[in-house]
Amino acid sequence: MGLKTSNGAPSGASRRAFLSGAAALTGLAVTAPRAFANLTSGGASDRVERLLAQMTLEEKAGQLSCFADMVRPPIADMNPVVNVRNAETVIAEVKAGRVGILFNGVGAQAAFETQKAAVEGSRLKIPLLFAADVVHGFRTVFPIPLGESASFDPHLAERTARAAASEATASGLHWTFAPMVDVARDQRWGRVAEGAGEDTFLGEVMAAARVRGFQGRDLKADDSMLATPKHFAAYGAVAAGMEYNSVELSEATLREVHLPPFQASFDAGALTVMTAFNDINGVPATANKPLLTGILREEWGFKGVVISDYTSDQELVAHGFAADDRDAARLSILAGLDVSMQSGLYIRYLPELVTSGAVPMAVVDASVRRVLALKEAIGLFDDPYRSLDPKAEAIRTATPALRALSRESGARSIVLLKNERNLLPLPKAGKRLALIGPFADDRDNVLGAWGGFFADRNLNVDLATGVRAQLADPASLIVEHGCEVETTIAGGFERAVAAAQAADIVLLAVGESQDMTGEAKSRTDIRIPPVQQRLAEAIAATGKPVVVLLRHGRAIALEGVVRDAPAILATWFLGSEMGNAVADVLFGVVNPSGRLPISFPIESGQEPFFYNSRTTGRPASTDPNAQEYKARWRSIRNEALYPFGFGLSYTRFSVSDVKLSTDKLGWNEALRITAKVRNEGTVHGDHVVQLYIRDRVASRTRPVRELKGFHRVSLAPGAEREVRFELKRENLMFVGDGDRWLAEPGMFDLWIANSAVDGLSASFELMASSRP
Ligand code: NOJ
Repeated sequence: MGLKTSNGAPSGASRRAFLSGAAALTGLAVTAPRAFANLTSGGASDRVERLLAQMTLEEKAGQLSCFADMVRPPIADMNPVVNVRNAETVIAEVKAGRVGILFNGVGAQAAFETQKAAVEGSRLKIPLLFAADVVHGFRTVFPIPLGESASFDPHLAERTARAAASEATASGLHWTFAPMVDVARDQRWGRVAEGAGEDTFLGEVMAAARVRGFQGRDLKADDSMLATPKHFAAYGAVAAGMEYNSVELSEATLREVHLPPFQASFDAGALTVMTAFNDINGVPATANKPLLTGILREEWGFKGVVISDYTSDQELVAHGFAADDRDAARLSILAGLDVSMQSGLYIRYLPELVTSGAVPMAVVDASVRRVLALKEAIGLFDDPYRSLDPKAEAIRTATPALRALSRESGARSIVLLKNERNLLPLPKAGKRLALIGPFADDRDNVLGAWGGFFADRNLNVDLATGVRAQLADPASLIVEHGCEVETTIAGGFERAVAAAQAADIVLLAVGESQDMTGEAKSRTDIRIPPVQQRLAEAIAATGKPVVVLLRHGRAIALEGVVRDAPAILATWFLGSEMGNAVADVLFGVVNPSGRLPISFPIESGQEPFFYNSRTTGRPASTDPNAQEYKARWRSIRNEALYPFGFGLSYTRFSVSDVKLSTDKLGWNEALRITAKVRNEGTVHGDHVVQLYIRDRVASRTRPVRELKGFHRVSLAPGAEREVRFELKRENLMFVGDGDRWLAEPGMFDLWIANSAVDGLSASFELMASSRP
């Protein structure tokens, strides 16, 4: 069935030295908190054992069941309406001990009352866990994770996750179903927006940062929130980028590309993980024993809780993997799934499955132990009312500090893709501006895919408001929609063209709406909707200089006048303070420093497109006269319009003096690489110096480049700094023979680069012995 458990050396354990390397490269420590020794050491406390001994089979199944919190239901549906109960039923089930976890309800007071029903109304008084999809903010919303990953700044990601946890725990939550750590190499897939993009290394660094941020230093603290890396595993590899589709994947690519961000999350202290909807090579992830038990528990030693995705256990029937619901419950628990979300299969079938002998009691007990240990780890038995304080909710929600962080993170997520003749930054006075497009003053599309559910939408700052607030004369801004996202408006083009004609500079706010990205929002074509493209053409025909403000949750295949505009800013969905954050960059209050975490292809048809592909036996030639019989499309070269790692600044940086401590790296030694980076311009700026490698010859064909480190350097005009990287054998490993991690002696190229396609190169040899 595909997945194999590897226990030979060099194993997953030595591979984890890699992440320590990643930590060194980004200046962050990756160590698991020690506050939950019982859970991580696998044993349970006396309290947990005493409880377990008293529990009926039904109470055990209850602890393994998670249901939508209908006592305080969310405003909008985040999931299909399946098996949904009402508030009264939920409370009755809580009192009967038939529920262990409630999710996606918010509000401290109602949570307090529900907890009371568990603690005072149920036989064993086991407190409930309250979970929710707090993905990129809560009431105050931060950039979509993809956008924030463009900051290449794990410290920022940690701060926004910490802030989201503080706000969400104040509203009666203990647990977030985040971070989403799926590596996404196909931009047609809508959920690209929720993760860190196409690269595994960046994904590891961001995953660890987000886990640290959500969980904080002390899991028992009132504002600490359990993190859940999801979706385990390879959900980002769905065929053709179609949501929920099957995954056909080699063991090597699974281990090399898709699994490392999960390991990074566990190393950072994550105690839970959510399974994916998809199958992998024919076995659905939710009942995939080699994955959930073989790799996760036996190979990696994970001691935490595995939760299904929403009804993904029940979906084993539709997959054609389980005969019926009972069979689905049996297959799931036997594969290693601890908690069933929303299907109700565990509460319905586990007791009978155990009494009939189909499922050993020990298997159920092990899962219950984990869930109770999780509750114990966050201090729920000592204080069941932690994080359920309406006073804290009033104080910690939508504070000025949270809004300031939303604005800061928003501005730091923006990527300057193009800036001909230094059109940007704009002056705050003396120019008439026309802000045109469906997103010009739109407040419904600033938050992004997960932003809309719990957000305080009153906080949303649209572009027009943000831009106007910084203009010396607010009347110098004209606003016209021109069209809707996908449809025309009567007279819209005419009014937009007139506005452009009356202005000196046009700000063109075009792209995707929020509901074109995220879950169940796969696209076949990743271009800007046709009506907006036509609007752009009409505006460009006026001859006015155009600054494109791109709204998007994935890479966009830019074309025509939008692609050719003199200035382009990739602005994603930036959250509550979007308008202010964009204005900060437009007017140069903030110097843009984002770098693309995904490649922008030339055309949609190139997808799946990612920088770290393999070379092929007939790589495309740089000689325009030697293009026949090469790996290319008939009409275009297979390259990015804007590559991974790319981003401009309002200043210029030079990188020089790349030096290697040795060109012969001993088997157990470290290679130190230094380079100088200098701000050659006249304004302060941040540069992201990137380290890529290529293994020239190996027993498996290797990617043309692989990111192995980056440094974000902040420099005053004229200032210079040395950046240092370190590479060890662990950083050069790949999954080879026997589907095991290994390194092979031989020649490697490296680049100190500004993106995945440029840089100063050097080479070194990995020697078979320690003493070169
Ligand atoms: C389905 C999504 O795939 C998952 O990410 C989310 O956590 C659950 N729904 C719960 O809302």
